[in-house]
Amino acid sequence: MTSSSYGAGDASYRAAGGAGGIERLVHRFYEYMETLPEARALRAMHAADLSEVRDKLAVFLVAWLGGPNEYRSRFGSISIPGFHARFAIDEAERDAWLVCMARAVDEQPWAEAFKRYFMQVIAVPAERVRVASVMRRAGG
Ligand code: HEM
Repeated sequence: MTSSSYGAGDASYRAAGGAGGIERLVHRFYEYMETLPEARALRAMHAADLSEVRDKLAVFLVAWLGGPNEYRSRFGSISIPGFHARFAIDEAERDAWLVCMARAVDEQPWAEAFKRYFMQVIAVPAERVRVASVMRRAGG
């Protein structure tokens, strides 16, 4: 599959191995957040118990990648930038988040083209989160 077709319908959801594949990714993502030294400050922004955010991020990504949308019915509606504006997120925190994600993605049994595609597209909301956080602190 060419990288441009991953955006169509549920192609990304299927390329990620469906809900099970996305849950495995998110599980490893938070394991990296708990263990990588460069993620220490990022980890400290999160609750002691990661089980709720683990569940939420997986359900969010299932819908975001074109799979079944259960986020709203289970957790209510969310604006990803709006939610994160309450945290102090600068380049360092954004990059630590993306490093954890890149390490987790690398381990998945996914097509190399999909791994590259996923890291490109997930960087977009990560940057929006940073901008929303900066604007909130600037009083915007
Ligand atoms: C850019 C760097 C990011 C940082 C530093 C960050 C940090 C956080 C923090 C501190 C929480 C709260 C967790 C808790 O209360 O235990 C959270 C929750 C969450 N994050 Fe992020 N995040 C980032 C990017 C993203 C991105 C790109 C997405 C989605 C594509 C995302 C999806 C979520 C979701 C769905 C939740 C749960 C929201 C809720 O509790 O209602 N995050 N994040």
